[in-house]
Amino acid sequence: MNNTNTTIDQLSKHVGQQVVLTGWLYNSRSSGKIAFLIVRDGTGLCQCIVEKSSVPEDVFEQAKGLTQEASVRIEGLVREEPRAPGGYELHVTNVQPIAPSVHYPITPKPHGIDFLMRNRHLHLRSKRPWALMRIRYTIIDAVRRFFDSRGFILIDTPILTPSAGEGAQTLFEVDYFGEPVYLAQTGQLYLESAAMAHRKVYCFGPTFRAEKSKTRRHLTEFWMVEPEVAFITLDELMGLAEDFVCSIVEAVLADRKEELKTLERDTSPLEALKRPFARLSYSQAVDLLRGPAAQDFLAGEMERLQSRINDMQANIAKLQAELANARKPAQQDLLTRQIQEARDEMADLQEQLQHIPEHMKIVQDFRWGDDLGGADETVISRTHDRPVFVHHYPREAKAFYMKLETEDQGRTVRNFDLLAPEGYGEIIGGSMREDDYDTLVSRIKEMGMNPEDYAWYLDLRKYGSVPHGGFGLGIERTVAWICGLKHIRETIPFPRLLGKVYP
Ligand code: 4AD
Ligand code: MG
Repeated sequence: MNNTNTTIDQLSKHVGQQVVLTGWLYNSRSSGKIAFLIVRDGTGLCQCIVEKSSVPEDVFEQAKGLTQEASVRIEGLVREEPRAPGGYELHVTNVQPIAPSVHYPITPKPHGIDFLMRNRHLHLRSKRPWALMRIRYTIIDAVRRFFDSRGFILIDTPILTPSAGEGAQTLFEVDYFGEPVYLAQTGQLYLESAAMAHRKVYCFGPTFRAEKSKTRRHLTEFWMVEPEVAFITLDELMGLAEDFVCSIVEAVLADRKEELKTLERDTSPLEALKRPFARLSYSQAVDLLRGPAAQDFLAGEMERLQSRINDMQANIAKLQAELANARKPAQQDLLTRQIQEARDEMADLQEQLQHIPEHMKIVQDFRWGDDLGGADETVISRTHDRPVFVHHYPREAKAFYMKLETEDQGRTVRNFDLLAPEGYGEIIGGSMREDDYDTLVSRIKEMGMNPEDYAWYLDLRKYGSVPHGGFGLGIERTVAWICGLKHIRETIPFPRLLGKVYP
């Protein structure tokens, strides 16, 4: 009989047929009479059943001898099996090893995150990163489709730039044939010039920030998508951001239900996402921080954390008692892993709890003029049931290119940050751009920078200047929010963090 080459995601089309799968051994167990091989082929997992009585002796031995991540070619009959992962299984007739895999380092046993990140090149094969990368891909695809379908032109902006795009503190310097240049912090300034050529444009690429911060939200290399539009208003820009974010979430919910399940993401907050998002001015946000709502929220947070810590302690004690009585190695491994995970989570909760009293004081004394920190953003976003736009920040807290608000004599700028729900913080930063030549020159000077370095950028204000604006969405922060992750490092295939660039 002729065997059809196929992949695991296509098995539903081959029920009752003889097929060939190629992939890697994910996991296996066997007894004297039967072997269960869990095979992954990049598109999914499939349980392959090898019965000693129905294959030649050497095929059964080969199947039993396969080790984790050995590559393999398997032939067999496809059967529907609702209880199997993916809903189908393969009744094996032949097994051909392709290449061996000896002592694969990432075993089903528990591993710490540092170990997994050092082995990221292999870790990508595991279930969780596999699901995450597929969701990331869908988010990126949705981003492109959104702008393409609205008539935006994709413009590629340079990575090597002669001057700062955002601010001098987070620049990576590169030696460019003896001249210092910098890795792009944003494509925005170049994109503004393209907006004067095409009206609606976007760029999408890697951006770099020499952030000396070790937070869960910062990478030194991340991907940003930035639209820029001529003749737009701040209000319209926020409307665009709203539609944009909703379209991304809709695409993930439509295409990645299984992957979200693998990540144990509660999707109800994503399903509940709707327009309009909340809109607060910075001044209103400061009032919120200084007022009783923030104190109530933090007090409630303290209680919630304490009660979760108590539950966790009880659970760890229970697991330890079970471990003391466990006989089977598989059972012991599972319990050890669960205890380790519970301990990690508890340490995390304790750390959060410790910071709350200090934070209660900080928000009460919040000074008008300061930028909002990650913890402030958390309070603002957690006291709302939807994403929050915070607009009109003080001029001193934001970048030189932002348009000064004329109605308050330039005390604030026409900008906004979009805070994701569930405490995920800023995912978008955007603004109208200063379109007046003289004002922009003085803003550049005010920031201690040299207008000569920005001569080309200033030209845009000399030749037919128009109101325009745009925003930037960080892909990794968006992935972290949509997937419900605690740390941004898992959102990108090979994360670059302060002090971490391997592999
Ligand atoms: O707020 P930012 O710095 O804005 C800009 O760069 C503007 N030039 C964008 C524009 O108006 N065209 O960055 C935009 C977004 C943030 O909201 C955040 O999602 C992400 O980029 N981001 C980071 N993500 C990960 N690690 C970092 N260090 C990030 N810094 C910014
Ligand atoms: Mg920002």
